[in-house]
Amino acid sequence: TRSFKIAAIAGDGIGKEVLPEGLKVLEAAARRFNIDLEFIHFEWASCDYYLKTGDMMPPDWKAQLSRMDAIYFGAVGWPATVPDHISLWGSLLKFRREFDQYINLRPVRLFEGVPCPLANRKPGDIDFYVVRENTEGEYTNLGGIMFPGTEREVVIQESVFSRHGTDRVLKYAFELAQSRARKHLTVATKSNGVAISMPWWDGRADAMALGYPDITVDKQHIDILCARFVLQPQRFDVVVASNLFGDILSDLGPACTGTIGLAPSGNLNPERSFPSLFEPVHGSAPDIAGKGIANPIAMIWSGAMMLGFLADAPDAPGGCREAHDAILAAIEQVLREGPRTGDLGGTATTVEMGDAIAGLLA
Ligand code: NAD
Ligand code: IPM
Ligand code: MN
Repeated sequence: TRSFKIAAIAGDGIGKEVLPEGLKVLEAAARRFNIDLEFIHFEWASCDYYLKTGDMMPPDWKAQLSRMDAIYFGAVGWPATVPDHISLWGSLLKFRREFDQYINLRPVRLFEGVPCPLANRKPGDIDFYVVRENTEGEYTNLGGIMFPGTEREVVIQESVFSRHGTDRVLKYAFELAQSRARKHLTVATKSNGVAISMPWWDGRADAMALGYPDITVDKQHIDILCARFVLQPQRFDVVVASNLFGDILSDLGPACTGTIGLAPSGNLNPERSFPSLFEPVHGSAPDIAGKGIANPIAMIWSGAMMLGFLADAPDAPGGCREAHDAILAAIEQVLREGPRTGDLGGTATTVEMGDAIAGLLA
């Protein structure tokens, strides 16, 4: 049967602590379900590599990673030594753009056993997806600073919304909504204040909606949408948003379910022309890095998402879907019964939590 080659990139900070737990769980699942996973480790795409070489990645990074079936990625960024825009534009944002990973799929779920910071919410009340545009929008390096260093300084930062780029993320979100029981799609907008791109974005959503008469579509301004994440999270099913709005919603959503230490993501190239990338939503967490206390579940769940994505490949071997489901079940059991890391109110270490989940898969 075919094997999968997976690039394993730890990055910085807690990326180096949670990645090994994710690999441990994937290896346990691969053994149990007879999946041939081969991990290839890369030291680059890290601030350590940058400080040694002056670059975030070697010149042939794209050729090296193009040979992979997927990329399993920790977190990058160490702002104490490397400015964030250098480390991120030199690695993660390059992957997303050059591998055309135009969907950033970010599930938000309240689990049994996880204290919810919102009053009177139980598991089942919060269960939705943020579908974030991942290659354009507000994330650009177009613009500049005029008259730098003077009183006349003016900064221009452009946003880019292409019809191709917008329609493909909307289409993905409509189809995802169609696959779900409630068939409800929330479109994040800001057509009152952002006067050009957002009314246009709404128009693209309206045009797309004509093709999906069974989906109820709800356009909401990003400000009130944030408020409703907190006040009425049960009304969301699939939420589609531009790059920056989706970034913000995908930290807010998981915060409403207790901790961002659980939140996974898939940076997807749905056509599979390039490898897709799976990573926690969170970053390198310099404030807790090196202490061995980070929650590894976001990393582990991202690994399950990777198997789920690979399972849908035309030539996928059997077992990937079962492995995905088993990892999710193990995560749920550990969240119910412990051990728990500090962000979940416990005292367990990263390794103890990883061991517990891997142990359930053995
Ligand atoms: P962060 O997500 O790294 O941390 C935010 C807060 O959440 C911190 O208090 C941290 O301790 C906590 N936290 C995060 N993950 C946790 C986990 N698994 N378990 C327990 N607590 C956890 O966000 P930040 O502080 O804004 O960014 C730090 C660095 O990470 C920056 O360099 C930033 O650019 C980078 N970053 C990278 C990614 C990525 O690689 N995808 C994502 C976000 C931020
Ligand atoms: C994320 C992160 C990145 C983003 C940063 C690190 C560039 O916050 O994956 O959510 O904004 O996309
Ligand atoms: Mn983010």
